[in-house]
Amino acid sequence: MTTPQTATTPALVPPVPPFYNDLEATLRHAWAQLDAATTDRRSGFHALTVASVGLDGTPQQRSMILRKVDSAARTLRFNADIRSVKCEELRLNPAISALGYSIPDKLQLRLNGMARIDQHSALADYVWTTMRDQSRVAYAQPSAPGDVLTQPDGYEPPIELRLDEPAATLARENFCLVHLDIQRLDWVFLNIHGNRRAQFSWPEGALNARWLAP
Ligand SMILES: Cc1cc2nc3c(=O)[nH]c(=O)nc-3n(C[C@H](O)[C@H](O)[C@H](O)COP(=O)(O)O)c2cc1C
Repeated sequence: MTTPQTATTPALVPPVPPFYNDLEATLRHAWAQLDAATTDRRSGFHALTVASVGLDGTPQQRSMILRKVDSAARTLRFNADIRSVKCEELRLNPAISALGYSIPDKLQLRLNGMARIDQHSALADYVWTTMRDQSRVAYAQPSAPGDVLTQPDGYEPPIELRLDEPAATLARENFCLVHLDIQRLDWVFLNIHGNRRAQFSWPEGALNARWLAP
């Protein structure tokens, strides 16, 4: 029989998660969260805030959908329009950072590394050919992202959209992948028992894991 909660019953304090005081488990948990976010649209890590150094030297951020995570290679992958300012910024200065916060998990992940713009690889071709026309249409727009328009406009793909072959060929030229080669993963976990912060980096390819003050 369960005791009914009264005003004097202390609130139940949830147990700490298994990774709480374990750096290796923390890192595994971080990779798992990122990996799940590629298919879970409600994850706080699905649309990451990706930062580059602007052409004028100021920080520039934008949301980007996390498409693929490779924990062994330590890479994240995004899709982008090669005509966008971010691609120019990342070509000139490949320093890149991605940030996400999951409200239900009370977890912040911040990744720093170097960007690679990848327009013509076999992988980029594969991603393009397996993409729905509804997604490809964004890359078929004559205006480049950030172009000044004389009136408000934006693509609105019909449900049954088909790109004809010439349009698809032109659109392919605007499509690229952005790879983030991770050099540092900063992990912040808020918890009633005490917050935790950990930092993971791979100098010379070997893992350096340590706790930091949150
Ligand atoms: C939820 C959301 C997801 C987005 N996903 C992407 C994306 O995956 N790739 C991308 O290039 N832009 C994406 N955008 C648009 C960018 O945030 C940004 O506005 C655009 O890429 C131009 O950025 P730039 O001028 O810094 O290059 C997304 C925007 C939102 C609101």
